[in-house]
Amino acid sequence: ATNAMWGGRFADGPSAIMREINASIPFDKALWREDITASKAHVAMLGACGIVSGEDAATISAGLDKVAAEYEAQGVPENWDLEDIHMTTEARLAELVGPVAGRLHTARSRNDQVATDFRLWVRGAIDAMDGSLAGLQRALVTRAGEHADSIMPGFTHLQTAQPVTLGHHLMAYYEMFRRDRSRLADTRARMNECPLGSAALAGTGFPIDREATAQALGFYAPTANSLDAVSDRDFALDFLWSCSATALHLSRLAEELILWASQPFGFIRLPDSLSTGSSIMPQKKNPDAAELVRGHSGRVIGNLTSLMITMKGLPLAYSKDMQDDKPPVFEAASLMELSIAAMTGMIAGSTFNSERMRAAAELGYATATDLADWLVRVADIPFREAHHITGSAVKLAESRGLALDQLPLEDLKAIDERIDERVYAALSVDASVAARASFGGTAPEQVRLQVARARYSLGME
Ligand code: ARG
Repeated sequence: ATNAMWGGRFADGPSAIMREINASIPFDKALWREDITASKAHVAMLGACGIVSGEDAATISAGLDKVAAEYEAQGVPENWDLEDIHMTTEARLAELVGPVAGRLHTARSRNDQVATDFRLWVRGAIDAMDGSLAGLQRALVTRAGEHADSIMPGFTHLQTAQPVTLGHHLMAYYEMFRRDRSRLADTRARMNECPLGSAALAGTGFPIDREATAQALGFYAPTANSLDAVSDRDFALDFLWSCSATALHLSRLAEELILWASQPFGFIRLPDSLSTGSSIMPQKKNPDAAELVRGHSGRVIGNLTSLMITMKGLPLAYSKDMQDDKPPVFEAASLMELSIAAMTGMIAGSTFNSERMRAAAELGYATATDLADWLVRVADIPFREAHHITGSAVKLAESRGLALDQLPLEDLKAIDERIDERVYAALSVDASVAARASFGGTAPEQVRLQVARARYSLGME
């Protein structure tokens, strides 16, 4: 048999392979809510514009509600002959309300329909992800407030560099997620135009009201060019890029948690609820959730690449390649949802070992810069020379297995006689972080300011 929706010009129906390769219903059924919503807005507009009778519009609208109730209760049926969510819904509508269902598709094509549905879906995913990221930020800010004074080593090249506070370190991620949220907001604002009424590619001869459907669906305006509207998947790519940037940040944080939870670091204990054991080594507690957050970021970034490559060679307007836009976006959204939830739980539920972090900061000559800065400030030595003198002090301390502030004064004086006993006050890790009170610096007072600003903008005050 030929296809009931479009088979008029065909003598033969599609082969089994054609039906299978063509079917998007297994994944695009996730769009059913958006499809019903957009169809109801469309038919209401058709009725208001006198393109279908008010009575038919009401019948179709009530029928769509019935289809929605069935999907809600029983799920969406997967029949490959009906290809996608659009034809599945229209076919069921026809079973419920009869031939009048055929008037729904007036002045519309699946091309503008899917572009509209997908935008609605992505818009919802953006709003959900923004809410989840705000939750993660709240967890970070809470822990940062508790640890505004907790000292840990700061690293460059993963070598101990200068002491920082744990609160400062956690607030660095707050800033990354703040930018991620603003990227989502940009994506949302840019994509919030309605393709409906672009029809297949050229617009329609029916006297439709595109402003009305755009407004009913919460878009700012109808899209300005029908060819662009049905061909554009920038919004999906923007979303995938936003996900990728966030996933990248989550992955870096996950990597740090994994390092910090390792025995040589011993900086944190991850919550049992987000760790797993080993089937052979009884002592093990593995950071699997963090590792999977790190791993999932690779898949999300891959999905961005996947859709960019799908789109890059397509002539205007619609090509069926574009049906492959949905799996990467759906997968990325659900991977992000899980990753953000897991990370929020790890941040909220980890125990930080402040003594261990502090001890690590005290090793590794983290305050060498403070010695050099002291030579500049107190002894008025040019920084380059001070750097050299300090290097000699570190070399000596290292050869004796001592920390800098454990070197006797006479040894320091032997390196440079301008050094006096006041230097010891500058060599403690507490003095080091307290000194770094420049705006955005690691001094506890600055960290508390960062935390206060963040709490305010998150509505935590
Ligand atoms: N299932 C299709 C998709 O997701 C809907 C659009 C089909 N349009 C068409 N002209 N075949 O892209």
